[in-house]
Amino acid sequence: MARILITSALPYINGIKHLGNLVGSQLPADLFARYCRARGHEVMFICATDEHGTPAELAAAKAGQPVAEYCAEMHLVQAELARGFRLSFDHFGRSSSQRNHALTQHLAKRLGEAGLISQISEKQVYSVADNRFLPDRYIEGTCPNCGYERARGDQCEECTKQLEPTELINPRSAISGSTDLEVRETRHLFLRQSTLRETLDKWIDSQTGWPVLTTSIAKKWLHDGDGLQDRGITRDLDWGVPAQFEGAPWQGMAGKVFYVWFDAPIEYIAATAEWADAQGLGDDAWQRWWRTDLGADDVRYVQFMGKDNVPFHTLSFPATLIGANFDGGEPWKLVDYIKSFNYLNYDGGQFSTSQGRGVFMDQALEILPADYWRWWLLSHAPENSDSEFTWENFQASVNKDLADVLGNFVSRVTKFCRSKFGEAVPEGGEWGAREAALAAALEGRLRAYEKHMEAMEIRKAAGELRALWVLGNEYLQEAAPWASFKTEPEQAAAQIRLALNLIRFYAVISQPFIPDAAQATMRALGCEDWSWPEGAEAALATMPAGHAFSVPEVLFAKISDAQREDWAAHFAGARG
Ligand code: MF3
Ligand code: ZN
Repeated sequence: MARILITSALPYINGIKHLGNLVGSQLPADLFARYCRARGHEVMFICATDEHGTPAELAAAKAGQPVAEYCAEMHLVQAELARGFRLSFDHFGRSSSQRNHALTQHLAKRLGEAGLISQISEKQVYSVADNRFLPDRYIEGTCPNCGYERARGDQCEECTKQLEPTELINPRSAISGSTDLEVRETRHLFLRQSTLRETLDKWIDSQTGWPVLTTSIAKKWLHDGDGLQDRGITRDLDWGVPAQFEGAPWQGMAGKVFYVWFDAPIEYIAATAEWADAQGLGDDAWQRWWRTDLGADDVRYVQFMGKDNVPFHTLSFPATLIGANFDGGEPWKLVDYIKSFNYLNYDGGQFSTSQGRGVFMDQALEILPADYWRWWLLSHAPENSDSEFTWENFQASVNKDLADVLGNFVSRVTKFCRSKFGEAVPEGGEWGAREAALAAALEGRLRAYEKHMEAMEIRKAAGELRALWVLGNEYLQEAAPWASFKTEPEQAAAQIRLALNLIRFYAVISQPFIPDAAQATMRALGCEDWSWPEGAEAALATMPAGHAFSVPEVLFAKISDAQREDWAAHFAGARG
């Protein structure tokens, strides 16, 4: 048994996430957490809403609400949707929590004491009309690179170029639209990441087996151009963690807050503390996951995220934690493995929150239960390249994999048994060569499935799981108990006894992908033994003759062509 810490990138608070967001971090993290628990490991699975910065302030303004109120409401909405998708977080926290305020200031102070923070005076755009600075998304204008007229201060959405607010042509305030702007000097705290470049480089080199997507992005930022740049970690905003606080090793930061990307990853730790608080446990309960001097030395820490998040997790956040350990400081647990994802596209274009394009988490659950989406999204996870959601593909996967292969097996076996032997595992007969061969084939594929799950190769794991389901169908087709029943009822009994146990075997191993169907199946089987199959042969004898069961409801309904066309048309436009 191992101890495994799992974090999913924190979804921004600014609205309901789309399926592309979901499959890029939270859903695969949940798959892995469920798998690790099923294998008997001790798991801590953490997520939270990312509530600071300009995305939160602008969304609140658009909703006409005070930002704190907006965040509190939207957190509940996101938490409810996470439950709807059966995301099994141990804690779903909030980056605006008291815990995160305290820990962010604490770590900043440690970095300051270690000489890793400097104050730099920079030129920022100031809006006279709004009486404030306009960082990041608070300013819009024409992109100097491609001419797009609605580029934002931090990035042009059209050509993706990273921008400085001062570079925009014809800039205007995103708050008031005012063009009465001037450039003013303002002082900010900078994290001196450049001094950690070699340390980070060595640390990344010492990691084995990281996905190429992860290391290539990290290496690019470390070595391209001038290499790793120092980063401003404060902003002229109201909403966030105050950068001036009691005991701070600097002055002059009153009215400023930390940059959202500084405090957000710290929330991984703070959310674990929030978990301990909610459980009524002491600090040692969360520290044993995060402090290598307090018990976390044997923890394996895995992070899940989209590729745009990789620089912050391979460089900035490790810089914060490594820096906090300078001069006999505090040894924080660094990540051991970063699983990163490409993008999921929607029907020939991109999913887009700002344009309301694609399927959003709430809409998805309105039309079908979570398992349908979980299966499609995970079995098409954008691991090695971007992937694409189309309604045709979704319909085909659901109908074939879930309804025809898995669902059909369960229903044929249970119904046949009910009609010929009654609602209990039948007695009599023995395994023959065909059953032994099936057990061997299942065993081989099960080991391959485990290997892919451990390696977080999600598509490959889904492929093995599907192949395991297919083996059952092929067996049933060849054994044909409906035929053998007429001449050799004992043999048919043995075949059905095996097949019923195979249903349980499927429920147990499929649970990380399709938890609701797995639950419903086990309930119908009247079985509470969720133990992971050690060997296929033993696992196929878990439920003995005489064990009562009932026929489950249809596990997966097929998607009709009419439904598919309806949904495709309904989701073709922007979300209202
Ligand atoms: N909110 C960010 C995004 O959606 C991710 C934050 S991850 C964290 O891209 F590490 F900062 F928490
Ligand atoms: Zn551009």
